[in-house]
Amino acid sequence: MKFAKNILCIGAGYVGGPTMAVIAAKCPDYKVTVVDINAERIRAWQTDELPIFEPGLLEVVQAARGRNLFFSTDIAAGIRSADIIFVSVNTPTKTFGHGAGMASDLQYWEKTAHEIEKYADGPKIIVEKSTLPVRTAEAMEHILQENKKGIHFEVVSNPEFLAEGSAVSDLLDPDRVLIGSRQSGPGLQAAQEIAAIFSRWVAKDRIITTNLWSAELSKLVANAFLAQRISSINAISALCEKTGADVGEISFAVGSDKRIGSRFLNASIGFGGSCFKKDILNLVYICRSYGLDEVADYWQAVVKMNEYQQERFVRMVIKEMFQTVVGKKVVLLGFAFKANTGDTRESPGIHVARKLLEERARLVVSDPQALENARKDLAGLAGVEYETDPYRAAVDAQAIAVITEWDVYKKLDFVRIFASMRKPAFVFDGRNILDHQQLFNIGFNVFPLGKPSLTHFK
Ligand code: UDX
Ligand code: ADP
Repeated sequence: MKFAKNILCIGAGYVGGPTMAVIAAKCPDYKVTVVDINAERIRAWQTDELPIFEPGLLEVVQAARGRNLFFSTDIAAGIRSADIIFVSVNTPTKTFGHGAGMASDLQYWEKTAHEIEKYADGPKIIVEKSTLPVRTAEAMEHILQENKKGIHFEVVSNPEFLAEGSAVSDLLDPDRVLIGSRQSGPGLQAAQEIAAIFSRWVAKDRIITTNLWSAELSKLVANAFLAQRISSINAISALCEKTGADVGEISFAVGSDKRIGSRFLNASIGFGGSCFKKDILNLVYICRSYGLDEVADYWQAVVKMNEYQQERFVRMVIKEMFQTVVGKKVVLLGFAFKANTGDTRESPGIHVARKLLEERARLVVSDPQALENARKDLAGLAGVEYETDPYRAAVDAQAIAVITEWDVYKKLDFVRIFASMRKPAFVFDGRNILDHQQLFNIGFNVFPLGKPSLTHFK
């Protein structure tokens, strides 16, 4: 079959995979190929055991795979035949050298730019999809302009706003699609080409076009604003615990103001995920590099508050268990950074687990989807077991710490769990998802976040 256009995506991860599956499903006349250097990942995309867990994704992939959606490791061939290349390779925070712990590590991304330059034999639109520091598109342009073949590459930015766990519905019904480009003739034309893809299923007024830098910066700012709401409510949760106020009631009362809105006001053990911390640190780094130290400090406080909240939770567990967890079995209910994903990147669970192990607790980590990643995150640490079944995990445990807000945890039979645990038994609800009064009535000593604790101690 002859396709109207060839779309390539470099990087078959949490962003590239779902995004391309939805584009392929919505544009059957376009050939969509996803390539990756990781052959194992590509193989998994070709089976029904997808490399990432995402509700609804398998159905979308199955509908298009082999028809107009293909997964391959042949990056060179993919580049040659593509009209449009989406780049969604990983851009973790640098762990070494200048900007370590702050700036993005662009080595994978730069390698991709060189590969495009090397293999391309005709003009292409390059779409920056990975979360990147502002002005990265410019760096991409510089590398591509180096080509001696006289080929024109137009670089546009199309930041991804999908959230894990709801990626498919976010892609099918996005609040907005953002496309940034050079404001020149070819730049605007490239932006229109990308807009044409999304306009197959997204209303025109939700497709926003801007200049390149605004698109890049909008992604960082959107994530910084969302994370800021969480840090704000988490800061208040600490105050609630001191005053007897209830952070859930405050979230409801404050969020009922239409100007504020109710979402992203759930107090928690802290935000995780591959984007929030990285994007804020990127923002902080950019601000510092322009000498805007006050602006940098302002945003850095959002990350600092998040670290404080995780640390506070661990300290609460230790303090309430009579200042020692040595040899005590603690169950971490959930390890993913949020529900409905197996992703554990930057999960507060990692911090909680490490700290409790340092205090010589024995841990049982339980999660419906994330145990494979948890094993990697905690590799080499003694004293951890992994158990998918929460009932088995709780046998002989002294405490349960809720790390992830999985729905299944709300429906557990806590009478049965309590009966199998050592006494006194504790629940530390890092997500405030359980029925605390009911747990207390069963016999647990209950410690929510930002709410009065319920204990049987006199
Ligand atoms: C985020 C952005 O939402 C998305 O637009 C962007 O493309 C990528 O980054 P994601 O990291 O997948 O998405 O998850 P998100 O739903 O934003 O949650 C991030 C973290 O905040 C999770 O750890 C979550 O548990 C936590 N969170 C969220 C809270 O602690 N409280 C809340 O009220 C909401
Ligand atoms: P994200 O959450 O941003 O999608 P992931 O880490 O899930 O990040 O996915 C990024 C993918 O990019 C990985 O599967 C990785 O193997 C792939 N990748 C990194 N560098 C290259 C490259 N030069 N060519 C092709 N794929 C790459």
